[in-house]
Amino acid sequence: MFTPKVDPRESVLENGFFLVLEGLDGCGKSTQHSLLKTSLASLPAGAHFFREPTARAAFEGWSREGARGTRPAPRAELDFFVEDRERHVRATLLPALRAGKFAVGDRYIVSNVCYQGALGIPPAEILAMNLRRELPWPDLTVVLDLEVGEALQRLEARRGASPLSLYEKKENLTKVKEILDSLSFLPGVRRVSAKRSPSEIHREIWDLAAEAVASKEKAFYRHRPQPARPEERPSAFFREGGEKRARERGERERGIFFSSF
Ligand code: TYD
Repeated sequence: MFTPKVDPRESVLENGFFLVLEGLDGCGKSTQHSLLKTSLASLPAGAHFFREPTARAAFEGWSREGARGTRPAPRAELDFFVEDRERHVRATLLPALRAGKFAVGDRYIVSNVCYQGALGIPPAEILAMNLRRELPWPDLTVVLDLEVGEALQRLEARRGASPLSLYEKKENLTKVKEILDSLSFLPGVRRVSAKRSPSEIHREIWDLAAEAVASKEKAFYRHRPQPARPEERPSAFFREGGEKRARERGERERGIFFSSF
């Protein structure tokens, strides 16, 4: 079978780069996901975005049922999320990573561990169940950190009169948060405060990604020829993006400073 070889200068790295956003409902993950979509649009290697659960119709069906008080048995719910994950990973995530793309997920294994862990299934068991499958572990997992009270306030403001789903209830989110806080030891997990403006959070995520890409790249080129021009390295894309932002910020801040006189 012919497999087209990706030019390593074009690829983020031979096996791509995998970033996942995690956090409580209401923490602003989806906003960060779409900000990354814009910032990564011109990445030469290309980017792949996904959001879990992908089988949304099935999930939303039960959320509605759940709001009326019935929810699938915990094990059935766990199987649903793992099977949904396995399907999209095999069909689209692995091919994207193999083509050297930068993949960004909105929820992944950590959500499974926290949300189904909150139903009483041991978190270590959920983690092991995921790791037994062909599911790549992310290079970087950014947890958008927010207190439960704040998350609930944001959700209520967003929902207006419609009731919060069972997943979003205080008791559930409190358990989810407890498990989430216990997972910082996992490889590549970094916490970022979600109590700031979307652009500040985006900048911090960008800097974490730049750092992680640079260190993966360093290992990658240890045994391979370097690209002729260092600016062709994927890390250059992140550095330039960061510098551009810092420049814009400087200009904006100077603008504010001068205009206040
Ligand atoms: P959604 O309404 O998309 O929330 P958000 O925009 O915050 O991602 O619903 C996703 C819900 O699915 C969320 O409450 C967490 C839940 N979930 C699990 O319970 N287990 C999982 O493995 C995943 C991926 C999500």
